[in-house]
Formats: sequence, C-alpha cells, structure tokens
Amino acid sequence: MKIFRDKNLLQQYILQAKANGQSIGFVPTMGTLHQGHLSLIKQSKKANDLTFCSIFVNPTQFNNPEDLATYPRQEASDIEKLTAAGCDAVFIPDNQTMYPTGLDTSKLLQFNFGILEQQLEGAHRPGHFNGVGIVVSKLFHLVSPDNAYFGLKDLQQFLIIRKMVRDLSFPLQVHGCPTVRESDGLAMSSRNLKLSTEERQIAPSLHEGLTLVQQAILSGESVQNALQKGLAHIEQSKVFTVEYLEVRETETLTKVDNVSSLPEYAILVAAHLGNVRLIDNLLVQQS
Ligand code: PAJ
Repeated sequence: MKIFRDKNLLQQYILQAKANGQSIGFVPTMGTLHQGHLSLIKQSKKANDLTFCSIFVNPTQFNNPEDLATYPRQEASDIEKLTAAGCDAVFIPDNQTMYPTGLDTSKLLQFNFGILEQQLEGAHRPGHFNGVGIVVSKLFHLVSPDNAYFGLKDLQQFLIIRKMVRDLSFPLQVHGCPTVRESDGLAMSSRNLKLSTEERQIAPSLHEGLTLVQQAILSGESVQNALQKGLAHIEQSKVFTVEYLEVRETETLTKVDNVSSLPEYAILVAAHLGNVRLIDNLLVQQS
C-alpha cells in the first residue's frame, strides 16, 4: 500500500491513475480504524479499480478542545489494517498540509447547510459540520474520487455531505453504508476505546434503547411514549446522560410525531457515558 503525506505526490499518483483510466474509490477517516471503517474499504474495493483512504484528525470539526486532544491515534496499526484490507493508498496529511493558511475557521470559507445542520449533532456541536464540510471538500479536491463511502452511523454527516456534493456539483457519487456493530449491539466507534471497562459493559444499552423505541412503535405505541421508554432504558444507568433521542424522517431529518405514512424513518440518539460522547441511530424501513 502506498502512503502519501505530501499532497503533490498524492496528486501526481492520482493523475497517473486517471490517465490509465482507473476509477478511484475514497474512504475519508480520522483513523483508529475498526471494522466499521474497513467495511467502507470493502465496499469501495468492490466497485473501483483503486481504493484510497485518508487518515486525518481534523481540528476544525472539533468543538471541544479536550475531545480533540484525547481523540485516539493509532497510525501504525491503522496502516497494517489498511494493508491487510487491500487498500491501495492512504493519505496521511498534517495540519499544515491541509490548512496552510491556519486553523482559524473564521478565516476560512463558511458553509451553511441550513436546516440540516441546525438540529441534532449540529445544534449540540456548533461549527462541527462546517469543519466536516471544509475538510471533506478539500479531500475530495485532492483525491478526485469517482465514488466516496460514508457510514450511516453518522446519518446527519452523510446527508450533509450528500447535499454538499449535489449543491456544489462535485463530480462523484456518495454512498451510505450500514452501521457495523459489536456482537452486543454497540455501534463500532473509535471513541469506544475511551470507555472504561465498566462503561463499556453499560454502553450497549444505547442500542437497546433504540431497539426498544422501534419495537414500541411497531406495537402501535405513540412516538412520544416509545421515546420515553427508550430514554428510561438508557438512563437506567446513572452514568448515561441522553443529549437527544428523536424520531426523524430520513431526508431532511424533520421531526415526526407519527410514522405511519413514512416509507422509512430514523431513530437517533446522542448520549454522554462518563466523559465519552456516543451517537447511534436505527434506520427503520416500513413496507
Ligand atoms: P470517522 O469517525 O473516522 O469515520 C470515518 C467514516 O467511517 C465515516 O463515514 C463514518 O460514518 C464511518 N463509520 C464510523 N463508524 C462506523 C460503523 N460502526 N459502521 C459503519 N461506518 C462507520 O466521520 C469521520 O471520521 C470524519 O467526520 C470525516 C468524514 C473523516 C471528516 O473528517
């Protein structure tokens, strides 16, 4: 696997690949890779001649400096995992490479994703999606992929990137891929490594809460009652504090009180477990 830290060398390689007529699939990440990330590499490998990954803990999307400082970093084992997964190249830039004019977001172009970013993650993490929009668009320009792969675990991020790609006519297809979970249901996340042994044991109740909401709605309960059940389950353990637990439609993330007429809806949650903030969601298809 090729490792690029320099964007000029990366672009030379990509120009050559394009000249050879090779298609490029791209998986942007912040590293500390797990099976969720590797499932995206697998999807890309199925549909593209070459698969590129990027590893960059992007400072401009962290609204909490402590979260940025403690975000896990495991470059050496990430490179091993990508090599074993058959990834063709990885781009590992530093801050200077990505942000030659500095990290002050007020001096960079600002995105406005409208209603899509004013709620849920966007409301609780001011500036987060602006930073995601900036870094992903820079990476798209540097890598020029034909296809890019994102996890539906970060449903709002996926919808925002899809909007950015459509509205700005990026010449690529964005694909949303299913959430990969541990055997006890916990959605895989690099932040899971920050959980203590005790917290890790409690963590699956987040996913259980989502499932409870789904089951309650299926059995005819109102959305409001179903959410109360889910909330009570998650907060049963006093170390869990739910930030939001919501039922939303899946295109604009508009709040819904009744799902009966919807072909699909999402149940989304964010919660603090000790010092770690976890998010998860369930996408429910209705026939
Ligand atoms: P990161 O959290 O490293 O995630 C990289 C990609 O992996 C994202 O598309 C995310 O949705 C996906 N992913 C994470 N956990 C997953 C799981 N359990 N199952 C399936 N996919 C999963 O998301 C980011 O990085 C950054 O915001 C980034 C897009 C790279 C921009 O900096």
